[in-house]
Amino acid sequence: MPDPRKIIIDTDPGQDDAVAILVALASPELDVLGITAVAGNVPLELTQLNARKICELAGRPDTKVFAGAAQPINRKLVTAEHVHGRTGLDGPTLPPPQMLVQSKHAVDFIVETIMASDPGEITICALGPLTNIALALQKEPQIAKRITEIVLMGGGFFEGGNVTPAAEFNIYVDPQAAAIVFNSGIKLTVMPLDVTHKALTTRTRVEAFRATGNRAGEVTAELLDFFERYDETKYGTDGGPLHDPNVIVWLLEPNIYAGRQINVEIETSSELTMGMTVADWWRVSDRPANCFFVRDLDDERFFQILTERIKRL
Ligand code: BDR
Ligand code: CA
Repeated sequence: MPDPRKIIIDTDPGQDDAVAILVALASPELDVLGITAVAGNVPLELTQLNARKICELAGRPDTKVFAGAAQPINRKLVTAEHVHGRTGLDGPTLPPPQMLVQSKHAVDFIVETIMASDPGEITICALGPLTNIALALQKEPQIAKRITEIVLMGGGFFEGGNVTPAAEFNIYVDPQAAAIVFNSGIKLTVMPLDVTHKALTTRTRVEAFRATGNRAGEVTAELLDFFERYDETKYGTDGGPLHDPNVIVWLLEPNIYAGRQINVEIETSSELTMGMTVADWWRVSDRPANCFFVRDLDDERFFQILTERIKRL
């Protein structure tokens, strides 16, 4: 097997972030150098705590977890307890973690780790608002040339938004940060709502997690039981969209996805459409492509991969 791919996971757990982290930690193809927490679904104090709970659930208390930005770059933090519950990980009962949060700031960890690496060595997996990554780029612009790729969950075009009619949550929370990342020139792969809304946590799929026979599978089912309630009511579907694990599965099996290399710009001034990802899917502008924007996936295979990986924990 080739050397594992080195990744940093930037995240705001969140049930779907939790599933993404479990799958990453269960995958020998990936070497998780660190998990950097950001404020998003719930405040930073909870996202860094939740990240540690998930590492321990995965049997990986050796994973380094760093706390990052508590606020977006220049907007007031918007959280999503109405979706994720008060703790951000409502559903299962998870014990308080024994492992400690690292003393270094997440942004310093990102900058130092990437500057100490060879160009093309590290991939960033972004599962929340892009504040930490944008701050790292502002602090040390040289990291842009060294990052292999940023794979992020965020945005939406054909599906519209999920927090406003125009905007998806991760981009809406920190549009300035998103604009910095989308204009950075770094290779970007984007998992927008257009693809994640095709990855539904149907009853059969949730029960497959419960049937894995380990605690991680049982907890995944309990997380998803809670997480899907809000979206099932909203969209009237069997199950809700499972967003963030798409970022990790992209690294494991990119051939199950389809998308286009296009230009995406972020709205940062209009309050009405704040955080909108203006995606030139039909290539009607002459703005240069800045990302691979994913629209389709093999959803059966996606859930097979998740279940098979979580079963290993
Ligand atoms: C994104 O927002 C959060 O609620 C989820 O964790 C996901 O990253 C979906 O819009
Ligand atoms: Ca998230």
